[in-house]
Amino acid sequence: IDHCPGCPYREFGPAIGPRGDRKSPIVLVGEAPGAKEVKKKKPFVGPAGDVLWKAVAEAGLHEADLFITNSVACRPHPARPRVGAIRACQGRLAKDLGASPRLVVVALGTTALRAVTGDSQLGVTEARRGPPFLTRWGLVVPTLHPARVLRRPSERPLLVEDLRRARDIALHRG
Ligand code: URA
Repeated sequence: IDHCPGCPYREFGPAIGPRGDRKSPIVLVGEAPGAKEVKKKKPFVGPAGDVLWKAVAEAGLHEADLFITNSVACRPHPARPRVGAIRACQGRLAKDLGASPRLVVVALGTTALRAVTGDSQLGVTEARRGPPFLTRWGLVVPTLHPARVLRRPSERPLLVEDLRRARDIALHRG
């Protein structure tokens, strides 16, 4: 896909498009592609992806149930995406989220939660304890970023629990 207008990372690498079924009732939103994602031109194919796919399976979901995109489509330089990059990439994210009437948007980590709600005060640790957020994109379920679970394996059940919650909303009660 093309770089967004005003993308601060365009000199550092390509923009990585989403993966999965655009019409899926469940969309997962990550933070930004890493080195592996750039190499394979696909979100969540690196170490965080390994954590995510295991949790997805454990929650009773399948790759075919999902559409997956990122808050920022380019690999951030030097490390985490800056607020300006998220802003520059917002139109592209909105297009991904609006591709079909979503039932559930799973925000993987605080960057994604802020990008999909527009609320820069939110954090997933607190937000995941409350009810989902009603947004124009559907119900937003906040959860931990898989890279965090990679560092803190004891938090793995929380990610699985939240994905299961998303599945229940989208595939059963939805
Ligand atoms: N890979 C992605 O595509 N996004 C992330 O947020 C992390 C890894």
